[in-house]
Amino acid sequence: MTYRMTELIATKREGKALTQEQLFWIIDSYTDDELPDYQMSSFLMAVLFQGMDDVELGCWTDAMLSSGVVLDLSGSPLPKVGKHSTGGVGDKTSMALAPLVAACGVAVPKISGRGLGHSGGTLDKLESIPGFTTELDLGRFTRQLEDIGIVLASQSEELVPADRRIYSLRDATGTVPSLPLIASSIMSKKLAEDLDALVLDVKVGSGAFTKDVEEARFLAATMVSIGRSYGTPVVVLLTSMDQPLGVEVGNANEVAESIAVLRGEGPADIVELTMALGVEMLVAAGIGDAEQAGGLLEAALASGAALEKFGELIAAQGGDPAVLDDPTLLPAAPQTTDITSPLAGTIARCDALTIGRAAVRLGAGRETKEDEIDHGVGITLHAKVGDEVSAGAPLATVRYRDADHLAASLEILDSAWGFSAEPQEPVPVILGEVR
Ligand code: URA
Repeated sequence: MTYRMTELIATKREGKALTQEQLFWIIDSYTDDELPDYQMSSFLMAVLFQGMDDVELGCWTDAMLSSGVVLDLSGSPLPKVGKHSTGGVGDKTSMALAPLVAACGVAVPKISGRGLGHSGGTLDKLESIPGFTTELDLGRFTRQLEDIGIVLASQSEELVPADRRIYSLRDATGTVPSLPLIASSIMSKKLAEDLDALVLDVKVGSGAFTKDVEEARFLAATMVSIGRSYGTPVVVLLTSMDQPLGVEVGNANEVAESIAVLRGEGPADIVELTMALGVEMLVAAGIGDAEQAGGLLEAALASGAALEKFGELIAAQGGDPAVLDDPTLLPAAPQTTDITSPLAGTIARCDALTIGRAAVRLGAGRETKEDEIDHGVGITLHAKVGDEVSAGAPLATVRYRDADHLAASLEILDSAWGFSAEPQEPVPVILGEVR
């Protein structure tokens, strides 16, 4: 059956539901390059405004999953547990968490994403490592998982090609913050990973795509329910994204901070989140209770096994593991400037969305589908919520390549911090859970 895309766009624009056949036709036609980007963008915008009902979302997710193959990882003797985040600013958790969990005897076959809107992407960050490739064919993906128990790769023409295309289109067309589009994008990738269980991190706050806990809870419950319908147990942590996670924002900056986490030197918030997600992953894998899981994770950090596993991952995917000992091998833009505090007080706001947008303007993210990102630019935060600062104290260091990008970024950063004369409560990292 062939449809007229203009009619399907109009149906969705008017808030009516599409049939399973129509939704599969859209995904298949777009994946086969038979639908132009402009029609797909228009359809995605209609979904953003009108949503999808549960039946449509199930069909759309299934169509995305069926656009490629589901991995067969039955050759891996280890339990396979996936992880994904809905995305935020400075959210580099996967880069330390996946090797940490893999070092504890759980296989982590991870299809990650690129930067989306103001939020960074694991693939872009990993590609800061000289030589590192995220483009693996199915054979290499499967062998690597059997050999070292960890893969961090991209969608491909074989694995969720529909998400590969739609993801980059959404990034450039303002169609990211739609709950059905987020849920289907994440779950189609995770269901292709042949998992025994899945742990999700749904972000909440200014730098997240879900701004309040109720909306995040709804998205979480939607993904738990999609997982259940495929027989994959899903656990979700709802976590704070009002301010960036850790202190580094930008691709190479975030790789360096992930290495610090694996060395036991990471900032408290990212370490807390990494351990909490790690405990959930180990428990979901059937490796003991929460206390035992926590002990295993601590031991893998302390012994250096987790850092070593990151090195194995980097080497397996063509990168230079020497970055682990010498992060100066990572790309770094040549110039830096400090942003200083205009007054004395306590930091009451360090806004994730603003800082994420400023990082994109520096070149750390894309404005169009074709943009090359600059791995070497970024922002290092020196003051976050609850910190006391004096007038003139540094709030952040901006690493930049040229004056135009810097000027655009500084203009945005101007409003990132808020000050108070009163002491401020530190921002909690974990806000809730959905199972
Ligand atoms: N991560 C994804 O993979 N997709 C989204 O839409 C958002 C976050």
